[in-house]
This record gives sequence, structure tokens and C-alpha cells, in this order.
Amino acid sequence: MPSQLLAGKRGIIFGALNKESIAWKVAESAHAAGAKFTLTNAPIAMRMGEINQLAEATGSQVIPADATSMEDLEKLFKESEEILGGKLDFVLHSIGMSVNVRKGRHYTDLNYDWLEKGWDVSAVSFHKVLQTAWKLDSMNEWGSILALTYMAAQRTFPDYNDMADNKAYLESIARSFGYHFGVKKKVRVNTISQSPTMTTAGSGVKGFDGFISYAEKMSPLGNASAQECADYCIAMFSDLTKKVTMQNLFHDGGFSNVGVSDLVMDQFMGNK
Ligand SMILES: NC(=O)c1ccc[n+]([C@@H]2O[C@H](COP(=O)([O-])OP(=O)(O)OC[C@H]3O[C@@H](n4cnc5c(N)ncnc54)[C@H](O)[C@@H]3O)[C@@H](O)[C@H]2O)c1
Repeated sequence: MPSQLLAGKRGIIFGALNKESIAWKVAESAHAAGAKFTLTNAPIAMRMGEINQLAEATGSQVIPADATSMEDLEKLFKESEEILGGKLDFVLHSIGMSVNVRKGRHYTDLNYDWLEKGWDVSAVSFHKVLQTAWKLDSMNEWGSILALTYMAAQRTFPDYNDMADNKAYLESIARSFGYHFGVKKKVRVNTISQSPTMTTAGSGVKGFDGFISYAEKMSPLGNASAQECADYCIAMFSDLTKKVTMQNLFHDGGFSNVGVSDLVMDQFMGNK
């Protein structure tokens, strides 16, 4: 990675739970690229304390915040600006959770209380983050706000369950709020649609191993790793992508445009 691509930039990184987390890799890469940032996660996710290692390694402070709580978010943005010494240039929303997926509830038999909880955490929280940054006027011009998503928003992957609907909503929020942030504040808002990746959230999906192997065989460049996703996030936070906004950006080794690959066909032709 070109060094110091984010020199002088300030940000907030949501969602680093452990070393496997995509947000963890983004934090390490943003630090290497010269950025200053605060780290945040839900108070309950911090009980294991792993995030403190990341904070130490990147010279960052940790501010607990439940991303569904407007009160927590307001405190987070205000404190981050104080700690970092000015307005923000980037925000990463790397948050996802479905109670129905966790509890193995089938899509045809959803529990709607659980659906609402998952929808609030996984999608509406992005609107809450954007609205907090908007109202507090926390972003510098040409800032960049990103959320992570998955292609089940466009195509059906049965075991992705209600997370598919949450991701569709998340991507729509990026477009809708991206318009207002662009016009009024010259800030870009995008989602990155990442390959299946072995993390705590990812491995909660039923049959995830098969899912990863299938995507690997279908993607001309192979699955994108968490580190490669982090590299892409750094590019999106940098000044090299200033006019990219309101997009859902596929970062999946080409998977999203492939109908079938030779490797997958071979399995049906009896060659392998
Ligand atoms: N792993 C994959 O296969 C994959 C693929 C595409 C997109 N994504 C997306 O990437 C993002 C990051 O997930 P990951 O794979 O790194 O897994 P992860 O489990 O490491 O990260 C998910 C994070 O969400 C946080 N979170 C949950 N509820 C929260 C709340 N109320 N407030 C604040 N934070 C909360 C968790 O504590 C955790 O840090 C998610 O949006 C996920 O859907 C993952």
C-alpha cells in the first residue's frame, strides 16, 4: 500500500471485534496509512477486551457505543472530534447481526421482534450514524463514509435469511443519504459488497464453509480477503476516489458478474 495515503485524516471505525474482523484490518491499514481515528463497538462486544490490543497497536482510543442508540452515537462523534482535534474525514460502519440467523430461525418462520432488532443493528444504525454526523456537522468536505454489505441484497442466498433484506435496506440508505451529503456537504457515502469472509459474523451463516468454497470457484480472481477489503476501504477513504458516491461497490473477485465458471461446471460434467 502506498504509505501515508491517509496522512492528516481523522475518522471513526465501528465493528472491530477480534483479529478476524474486517474493521480490525481496516484499523491496522488506516494506521499504517497515517490516519488518526477512534475505535468503537457495542459495550457488550467489548467484554473480551480484544479491542484494547488494537487500540494500543494503532494509538487509538476506544469509545463504547451501541450503534442503535442516538445518545451513544452523539457522545461518540463529539468525543471523537475532541480527541482527534477536529472534524472527521472518514467513517467505517462494519456492523451486522441477525437474531433470526443466530437462533437458526428459517426465513419462512421469522420472529418479527428478532427481525426488528437485526434490522435496527444492521441497517437503520447506518442511518443513525449518518444522521448524527449530519446534525453535528462532524464531517470535513470530501470526507468518505462507508458501510459493508453482501450481494444477498441483489441475489438470493437462502441461508443468508433476513440479513439479505437488511443489506438491501443498508444499500438504499447509502444512496438516499449520499444524495443529501453530496449536495450539502460534499461528503461521499458508499457501500462495499464484500466476498464471503471467515469472521465471527460470517461464520454465523449456516453452511458458511460451502458458501466460501463455492464463491471461490465462481470468482475469476478468487474471493477477496478481509485484508484486501481493508485495502479497498483505504482507497475509498483517500483523496483518490473523491467523486465516487452513492454506489454499491462489488469487491468480490468478479463473482457478481459470473453466471457460471469452468470450475463449477466441471463438478457437473463429472470431470472432477
Ligand atoms: N464476513 C463476511 O462474509 C461478510 C461479507 C460481506 C459483508 N460483511 C459485512 O461486514 C461487516 C463486518 O462484519 P465482519 O465479517 O467483520 O464480522 P464481525 O463479527 O467481526 O463484525 C461485526 C461487528 O458488528 C458489531 N455490532 C453488532 N451489534 C452492534 C451494535 N448494536 N452496535 C455496534 N456494533 C455492533 C459486532 O460487535 C462486531 O464487531 C458486517 O456489516 C458484515 O455483514 C461480512
